[in-house]
Amino acid sequence: MELPAPLRLAVEQALAHVPRADLTRAAGLLSQRYRAERRDGRFHLAGDLAALAYLATRLPATFAAISASMSAVSQIAGEFAPRTMLDVGAGPGSAMWAAAECWPSLDDALLIEASAPIRALGHRLAGDISVAKVEWQDRNLDQGLPDMPPRDLVTLAYVLDELEPPSRERLIDRLWALTGGILLIIEPGTPAGWQRILDARTRLVALGAHLVAPCPHSAACPVISPDWCHFSRRVARSRLHRQVKEADVPWEDEKFIYVAASRSPVRPPAARVLTPPRSAPGRISLKLCTDKGHLEERLVSKRDKDAYRTARRAGWGDAI
Ligand SMILES: C[S@@+](CC[C@H](N)C(=O)[O-])C[C@H]1O[C@@H](n2cnc3c(N)ncnc32)[C@H](O)[C@@H]1O
Repeated sequence: MELPAPLRLAVEQALAHVPRADLTRAAGLLSQRYRAERRDGRFHLAGDLAALAYLATRLPATFAAISASMSAVSQIAGEFAPRTMLDVGAGPGSAMWAAAECWPSLDDALLIEASAPIRALGHRLAGDISVAKVEWQDRNLDQGLPDMPPRDLVTLAYVLDELEPPSRERLIDRLWALTGGILLIIEPGTPAGWQRILDARTRLVALGAHLVAPCPHSAACPVISPDWCHFSRRVARSRLHRQVKEADVPWEDEKFIYVAASRSPVRPPAARVLTPPRSAPGRISLKLCTDKGHLEERLVSKRDKDAYRTARRAGWGDAI
């Protein structure tokens, strides 16, 4: 998965004259803060270099995870064609770019972001985006969100881990109240990220939301810790990305987890594939979360032609 061409070019321009050594150092510090899930009252993207390092090393991965989640949503909610969007903790506008690619109907985006350096970069990158109206608002989520009419699509990507638990609960309630169509929340695919998504899922179901993806049911999640539900997307690394990360491999796998909830009921798929399918000669084994709310290991034999064809095409995270 790669960034859309206008975004990729704008990122390259923004990074062109930044000394590589500075970027590498800033990327290292940023990565340490994310890994430690540090919440010390400072924004991770408080400075210009941290914001530039985010463009170089995190934007390709968060864009890929958001795009994959949106694609899963559009497969289930085929009629959904959002015109308006609210993105909270927007960073450089990753979710807006992914939404514009997934839903060309999008023509009005409101992005809320408290860090001035990343907001300024996001504003600059979005010069050539297809969305007609893009508005950036400087607002700290801890102080709540302003009153506004609900928006068709509301997104919160890779933000919950930066908030304290009481702020998270308030924010989910508020975002649901501002959702006219679908609310999509995405987190890193770690056990802690999954737990935050699980809490958001529980709250949204209690508020009467209809789950769209990844869950094919609204019953209690059948995945039991230390296992955790997550998916993965392979992300191409540019030369600069490799230099800044001091890495040789031309790709990385971004692990993520998400939940999408709708105001209207949707028809759930029969199941979702929870792990990479395992193949052996003449058979494929799939770990599924089913619409009955259960986990199931399904062994599909080549003799069962239709099921085998479906299983062969199925990938980790797909609805079947
Ligand atoms: C990891 S970045 C994610 C950015 C973008 N959503 C993405 O997926 O690439 C988290 C963003 O949330 C913003 N953020 C964190 N806490 C916030 C708060 N209390 N108020 C507003 N923005 C906040 C940060 O400044 C940062 O830009």
